Amino acid sequence: MNYRHGFHAGNFADVFKHAALIGLLDALQAKPAALCYFDTHAGRARYDLHGEQARKTQEHAVGIQRLLGATSLPHALQRYVDLVHAFQPADTAGIAVYPGSPLIAQRLLRADDRAIVCEWHEEEAAALRDALEGDTRFAIHHRDGYAALKALLPPAQKRGLVLVDPPFEAQGAEFEQVEEALANAWTRWPNATYAVWYPIKLRETIAPFHRWLRDHAERADVLVAELLLHPDNSGLRLNGCGLAIVNPPWQFDDTLGQWLPAVQDLLAQSRFGSSRIEWLKRS
Ligand SMILES: C[S@@+](CC[C@H](N)C(=O)[O-])C[C@H]1O[C@@H](n2cnc3c(N)ncnc32)[C@H](O)[C@@H]1O
Repeated sequence: MNYRHGFHAGNFADVFKHAALIGLLDALQAKPAALCYFDTHAGRARYDLHGEQARKTQEHAVGIQRLLGATSLPHALQRYVDLVHAFQPADTAGIAVYPGSPLIAQRLLRADDRAIVCEWHEEEAAALRDALEGDTRFAIHHRDGYAALKALLPPAQKRGLVLVDPPFEAQGAEFEQVEEALANAWTRWPNATYAVWYPIKLRETIAPFHRWLRDHAERADVLVAELLLHPDNSGLRLNGCGLAIVNPPWQFDDTLGQWLPAVQDLLAQSRFGSSRIEWLKRS
């Protein structure tokens, strides 16, 4: 476990993932019934962009920072930017703090909603606990998120969202773990929405996961959204990333379509960027 999200906080992948996360929670909260948010790989929740890790990579400079200077953003992106702004200390120019997925969810969850968040790395888990301290809606687990999914589903709430956001230190092996976890999870909690984030380097390494989803997500629709800053033909760098969404909220493809092209333009690093929204499976 060498991965530390602090090196990447607020980068293009976080912008994409967190704007989508807000959209997913908004859509699920269109119904009044309480929901459960389950974050299998939560991270430390609060990232210091002036800290050593973020200063070393400066990935946020070509991520969230690009959106801060933009005018007339699509509603979903403005909502994301406003949410990030809400975490900034009063005396800070620009952004000093980046909120990870648990803090974003915490802002959005209603009084009756609940959350289960898991983080396996000891220091990150301790920071996660500090960040969420006192919020009784949250159950915080220092444990393997895949094992937690198996042990803790289904929650009391019928509806909800599972975010699976692993570090992908070993790409093929991580997909195998994701598949095993999903296959078990959706039999226990079939009504939930599952969102799996994945990195894109070489296209052919993603294809087996998409095939698996097509073949195994019985009775569920599967929507895929991807953002590529570079062509997907080099294994040497992170060219883009995607989100596979099982049981997406109604018309979520349209929701994504309202902001994904704008994010692609804002985060472009060359003229070879692209984005796509595609149904892998639709009943
Ligand atoms: C990509 S980061 C998560 C970022 C977070 N979801 C966000 O959007 O702000 C992945 C996290 O998973 C943690 N991790 C790695 N293996 C894990 C496992 N098996 N179970 C739970 N957490 C794990 C890492 O320590 C890291 O903090």
